[in-house]
Amino acid sequence: MKYGHFDDRNREYVITQPDTPLPWINYLGCQAYFGIISNTAGGYSFYRDARLRRLTRYRYNNAPMDFGGRYVYLRDDESREFWSPSWQPTRHALLDYSCRHGMGYTVIGSTRSGIEAHTRYFVPLEENLEIWQLKVTNCRATRAHISAFASIEFCLWDAQGDATNFQRNLNIGEVEVEDGVIYHKTEYRERRNHFAYFACSEPGAGFDTQREAFLGRYRGWDSPAAVEAGQLTNSIAHGWSPIGAHQVKLDMAPGETRQIVFVLGYHENPSADKFDPPNSQTINKVRVKPVIAKYLDPAKADAAFERLRQYWASLLDIFQVNTPDIHTNRMVNIWNAYQCMATFNMSRSASFYESGIGRGLGFRDSNQDLLGFVHMVPARARERILDLAATQLATGGAYHQYQPLTKRGNNDIGGGFNDDPHWLIIGVSAYLKETGDWSILDEPVPFDNEPGTEKPLYEHLQRSFRYTLERLGPHGLPLIGRADWNDCLNLNCLSDTPGQSFQTTTNKEGKVAESVFIAGLFVYAGHELAAIASHRCLNAEAATYLAEVARMEKVILQHGWDGEWFLRAYDAFGAKIGSKECKEGKIFIESNGFCVLAGIGLKDGKAAKAMAATHKYLSTKHGIVLQQPAYSRYYINLGEISSYPPGYKENAGIFCHVNPWVMIGETRLGHGDQAHDYYSRINPSAREEISELHRCEPYVYAQMIAGKDAPTFGEAKNSWLTGTAAWNYYAIVQWILGVRATLDGLEIAPVIPESWSGFTAARTFRGVVYNITIERKGEGNSIALIMDGVPIEGNIVPPPANGRKSVSIKGILT
Ligand code: GLC
Ligand code: GLC
Repeated sequence: MKYGHFDDRNREYVITQPDTPLPWINYLGCQAYFGIISNTAGGYSFYRDARLRRLTRYRYNNAPMDFGGRYVYLRDDESREFWSPSWQPTRHALLDYSCRHGMGYTVIGSTRSGIEAHTRYFVPLEENLEIWQLKVTNCRATRAHISAFASIEFCLWDAQGDATNFQRNLNIGEVEVEDGVIYHKTEYRERRNHFAYFACSEPGAGFDTQREAFLGRYRGWDSPAAVEAGQLTNSIAHGWSPIGAHQVKLDMAPGETRQIVFVLGYHENPSADKFDPPNSQTINKVRVKPVIAKYLDPAKADAAFERLRQYWASLLDIFQVNTPDIHTNRMVNIWNAYQCMATFNMSRSASFYESGIGRGLGFRDSNQDLLGFVHMVPARARERILDLAATQLATGGAYHQYQPLTKRGNNDIGGGFNDDPHWLIIGVSAYLKETGDWSILDEPVPFDNEPGTEKPLYEHLQRSFRYTLERLGPHGLPLIGRADWNDCLNLNCLSDTPGQSFQTTTNKEGKVAESVFIAGLFVYAGHELAAIASHRCLNAEAATYLAEVARMEKVILQHGWDGEWFLRAYDAFGAKIGSKECKEGKIFIESNGFCVLAGIGLKDGKAAKAMAATHKYLSTKHGIVLQQPAYSRYYINLGEISSYPPGYKENAGIFCHVNPWVMIGETRLGHGDQAHDYYSRINPSAREEISELHRCEPYVYAQMIAGKDAPTFGEAKNSWLTGTAAWNYYAIVQWILGVRATLDGLEIAPVIPESWSGFTAARTFRGVVYNITIERKGEGNSIALIMDGVPIEGNIVPPPANGRKSVSIKGILT
């Protein structure tokens, strides 16, 4: 069953039933001001950091799950009936309800009692505010007298304190109301120089800023007393719970449409000039007023929306493809690329499943996110790389996370996840391949943000590589540390205390537990680093990397091979994990996917064996599960992985992030059918028809789909913020379609299904548009390339002569 449909021409998903199995959400804003919005207008907004600069309040894990948001109410001032055109919060029956989630905007609306209303929500480029454009149409044959209300609940900035410290919070709320604009200025009197505002384009019939005045006692957002009464009370909040609510009266002729613009925004004043007059406690509004006035003008709001649309078109146009598979096209051309932007911006911090207060930006997460994002806005990727590298420690190790506002490593979580450093090499390499901007390697970057410790970025990469060499275990495989990519394989934790965090609790010394996954990662990253070194003409250095890589490959094939597949790890007692000798957890996806992706065992048939075993033991109709058999009980030597019930999350769930490693592995073996089949099983668009089971949004990836051991096999969870976005994009675009950025130029090496007659694509790469046509003439993956009618040698397209900005490439597959 479906709850809507794709509108590919407009790059929208249209939800036509409000009670979706879970809130189906979208992100507003893509630079500094962000909002999360559900299909019923739930959600919240923040500036840069979802914990420290939260503008509006949101209560997670509520019942119903999604409650609190950007709510509009309409009231028929004659019949006194009131409702919400976005269904929530009043949940009245509506005609023609629809929610259109688009690229950086959402439009929600419906009709009731002959009154049609739609609100378009978006964040203009380069502004720290969001615009709500509410259009109301009187479809009746008679005049209509309607009150329109818009409401939000302010958060007292630090979302963590806001949700916990009530003895203070209920005393500090402060607002100002001037010229009909509501200013939220809690803590502005002391150390903050920022405030929020909520403005309305039309002359107001009333406002409220105190929650209780608006809602009434013992009432919720589904039946605000002031809306019911038809009159806001002009309340001023002193403490308690500051809100923003506006009322506008509309007297409408039959057929008439009226537009009201609401602007919710964030503003920072210079601290020396924050009050006006200077010795008062009143906000200085000189700088913010022109911004508010500008966007309350519907024409300017429309123009800003048009710019946003063009911006997104220009980003998506960097790669567009037309294949015989609609789900591939839709995800690559629209939604997967779009999701890559959201994951790049948020890392794993703020979604409907990440509360925005728990986690900053992950080191490994953000580096991997670059794989799917770097082609869109390379300048921001560059900035992110330098921020990440500056949190690296002098040892080459890394803080596992950092706070986006302070850019400092997060001490609570610390480091010691021994895979982390290698992702920096992979992130930087992706940037170099895309841009050819070698200057980044010479940028001075400190360690642990310590001034005076700056070294060229390149040295950070060298230290990343050495980090592993200095931490080898008894078999010569890398020590795992706290955990590797799988945060839940906690081999040195040995925790028996309830509530202890598997990720942060003090670990045992840990000189025994080794990771075959990190070994594969080391080989992969080592090849990348060697290529970078030889490009810089450091041939001797490149040779030493390759020698270390070759040595590690040998160790993997000797101590990391189980006969039919790659082992996963050795635990703190030296026992095998992911071996046929184990009772549970005999075979894991990560080491098999990554070793083959890294090219290990391609020559001696082990790679092919590992992929066959992965298929045989791990593949299901909903995707590839993380391991088998699932752990049926808690094992102290394994940690969190065995804390999950079988089939969920890292315990044999379909952890979507790692499925693309197997897809890429299959392309390395030349298996286009198998690679694309895996791709399709977790492709959200291809799962749209089973939305009832899948439950999450059909337009973005979720972190996990319940595995075959789970009672809810096939049910997705934790949508939006997951490394799945970048890795799937990378797998389909660069390995299956085979349009791949390399240090030497654009490589074209498709490994597509045999049944495809070919595909066309347009790729802008380093300023040149490559119009690509692939034609299948045989069943294999050998390709002959013709550039502007002239055959070329090899797979890598040379940059066009005479500075031409557009070329055509024909590829014949045989
Ligand atoms: C989560 C984490 C990621 C980790 C993965 C597997 O997605 O964000 O860092 O690799 O889980 O445990
Ligand atoms: C939990 C999750 C895992 C995540 C980790 C870090 O262990 O299961 O997916 O990576 O937390 O937040």
